[in-house]
Amino acid sequence: MLKQIQERRSHFLKEFNGDKAPNDLIHSLIKSANWAPSHKLTLPFRFIVFSPQKLSILAQYIEESYIDRHSEPNIDKLNKIKSLPTKLSHAIAIVLKPSNKVPLWEEYASLGAAVQNMYLVLSESPNFGGYWTTGNEIDAPKMREALNLASEEVHCGYLFIGGLNQKRTLAQRPDTDVRWV
Ligand SMILES: Cc1cc2nc3c(=O)[nH]c(=O)nc-3n(C[C@H](O)[C@H](O)[C@H](O)COP(=O)(O)O)c2cc1C
Repeated sequence: MLKQIQERRSHFLKEFNGDKAPNDLIHSLIKSANWAPSHKLTLPFRFIVFSPQKLSILAQYIEESYIDRHSEPNIDKLNKIKSLPTKLSHAIAIVLKPSNKVPLWEEYASLGAAVQNMYLVLSESPNFGGYWTTGNEIDAPKMREALNLASEEVHCGYLFIGGLNQKRTLAQRPDTDVRWV
């Protein structure tokens, strides 16, 4: 298990080859999320899946929101947004759904564990990978409207998933900050 954890990598947009993942893979990721720990089993998260046919709508929302919020939009940024439908396989919007039964930080902690579960399941796929993005206009007013979020919900980014020709496993980490007593 330690090896699987160490070899789990984020793979980014520039690595995606445009292949589209089978829905079975996406279902497994979503299923894994619910096995995250949560205090009082509040399961304080939900997901909105953008399948390949809906990625152009997502890119359009992101582009409109970006243009709304920037008086001088960056052309490279706009081109990156426009490339999403061809590059991505699926985008999974990650939404915090607070239960108000436990402190809010515990709900965020549980959401983080849910995304780690998804990352680990995705890591088992030989041909698909992805990364958690907290860019791309997350939680901007237009995006909240587009995703139809309730007022107490928080848009915590997307898991962007894409096809890969080659998966990376290696990375460096400093030693863990720990004190044994
Ligand atoms: C909460 C969170 C938000 C992140 N947001 C971004 C992001 O907006 N853009 C990005 O390129 N990577 C993002 N990442 C992925 C990190 O860049 C990545 O986890 C880090 O580089 C370590 O690489 P690894 O996941 O392969 O171990 C995010 C990760 C987390 C946990």
